[in-house]
Amino acid sequence: MSAKILIIHGPNLNLLGRREPEVYGSVTLEEINERLQAYAADKGIKVRTFQSNHEGAIIDAIHQAVGWADGLVINPGAYTHYSYAIRDAIAAVGLPTVEVHLSNIQGREDFRHLSVIAPVCLGQIAGFGWQSYVLGLEALLMKLAKN
Ligand code: DQA
Repeated sequence: MSAKILIIHGPNLNLLGRREPEVYGSVTLEEINERLQAYAADKGIKVRTFQSNHEGAIIDAIHQAVGWADGLVINPGAYTHYSYAIRDAIAAVGLPTVEVHLSNIQGREDFRHLSVIAPVCLGQIAGFGWQSYVLGLEALLMKLAKN
């Protein structure tokens, strides 16, 4: 059975490519999603991608992943730092989840150092630009293979 993974992009990530390119790079979200689909095809897994600027929509997507997804990769954007609701949604569904960030959040402003999401995730990958998503996906697949 091939793994099915939902990749969630949080707020403002729809602007990738023109949003602070010195921090987030110049690759657009569409290009990232295409690269993730190419990676998935190569690995023989199924990937769905979802982006929203709204906390409730992200929570709905996490709930709706149950029954389809074997795991989640999530870049919660700024919600990383304060959304107990997204954290609770991940804990509630119990799907193995990897948190990813394009930028190295530990090397940035103090308010970005805390992730309230990370404690309910398998782990966090940050600082590798769009490739953080690929590394997160790979880490999740390794964990799923061991289960
Ligand atoms: C981000 C880091 C967050 O602090 C920020 O609010 C984002 C993007 C990243 O991918 O580096 O929106 O999650």
